[in-house]
Amino acid sequence: MKYKIAVIEEIHKDGLELLENHPDYEYELITDVSETNLINKLPDFDACTLRVSNLDEKILKHCSKLKAISRHGVGFDNVDLNYIKKNNISLLITATANAVAVAEHVISMFLSLSKSISKYDEEVRKGNFKLNADKIQTFELLNKNILIAGFGRIGKKLISRCLAFDTNVYVYDPYVDEKIIKKFGGIKVDKIEDGLKKADYVSLHMPLTNETKNLINYSVLKTMKKNSIIINTARGGIINELELEKALNEGLIFGAALDVFSKEPVEKDNPLLKNKKVILSPHSATFTDECTSRMGIETTKNIIDFFENKIDKSMLVKL
Ligand SMILES: NC(=O)c1ccc[n+]([C@@H]2O[C@H](COP(=O)([O-])OP(=O)(O)OC[C@H]3O[C@@H](n4cnc5c(N)ncnc54)[C@H](O)[C@@H]3O)[C@@H](O)[C@H]2O)c1
Repeated sequence: MKYKIAVIEEIHKDGLELLENHPDYEYELITDVSETNLINKLPDFDACTLRVSNLDEKILKHCSKLKAISRHGVGFDNVDLNYIKKNNISLLITATANAVAVAEHVISMFLSLSKSISKYDEEVRKGNFKLNADKIQTFELLNKNILIAGFGRIGKKLISRCLAFDTNVYVYDPYVDEKIIKKFGGIKVDKIEDGLKKADYVSLHMPLTNETKNLINYSVLKTMKKNSIIINTARGGIINELELEKALNEGLIFGAALDVFSKEPVEKDNPLLKNKKVILSPHSATFTDECTSRMGIETTKNIIDFFENKIDKSMLVKL
């Protein structure tokens, strides 16, 4: 008998091929992720893959055969953790697939903002080729202070890329030992406020929790350097968007870039959409060709490894 896998929302063909070429598995792609359809379909399956749709108790209580949920990604705020813990459903993540793609996205945002790429682009298209050097402000990364807040998989990939630009990297992560940070070339700060005051560039890489919600708010932004830049590729809600908008308008910081938003898709009336001091991307830091292939493969491989009892500990979320 074959294991039946629900592939909830499309994943890269390289991941699907793993299931197609394995004699013990069959899969069905589910693109209608409405609650009604998931309640109707999912009870049939032994495991599922999951992108951004919500799997809450309302749906999961119909899925008595389900043994594992394999997230295409590392965040899992769209899964009802209490329910799956109580009902012995395992949660798997693509722990090694996406950190580099996110780290590169951050570097591209640091550079685009510092070099005012979109402003230059706009001016050239308008025919303003002979700009005065002082009309558009740009900066170098050389010798600047960078704060990485959250030093897990992505923070650790980001630090070497930052150091390659000859910067000083400060790290705030209360759960990581100073020795580890030092080994990676970073300088530990015990309080985020200290790091924020020193930093020319800040990048956030922690989960959204009660502790980190609205962590970056107006009063914090007020303490930062006037020429500083802040990037959020972690989770919307860690930065208070309205307060960020206010801080940008008041010139408290130079710029910001967001890949994640408190409501996704970003709402049409979000004032940041009209603010030119901010660069936005649609939760797409992992959308590189290479990363989508790696994530597709890791998502389905995790299911196979799980049923063969050889799942790597780093891929299994401790509930
Ligand atoms: N934009 C994207 O497409 C994308 C892709 C992957 C991950 N993410 C998000 O990026 C974030 C980091 O991912 P990761 O894979 O590096 O996660 P990780 O679990 O490997 O690392 C998170 C780190 O945050 C630290 N942390 C927890 N609470 C903290 C706090 N209050 N202050 C400072 N540090 C704290 C933890 O100690 C840990 O080291 C997560 O929010 C994840 O959901 C976004």
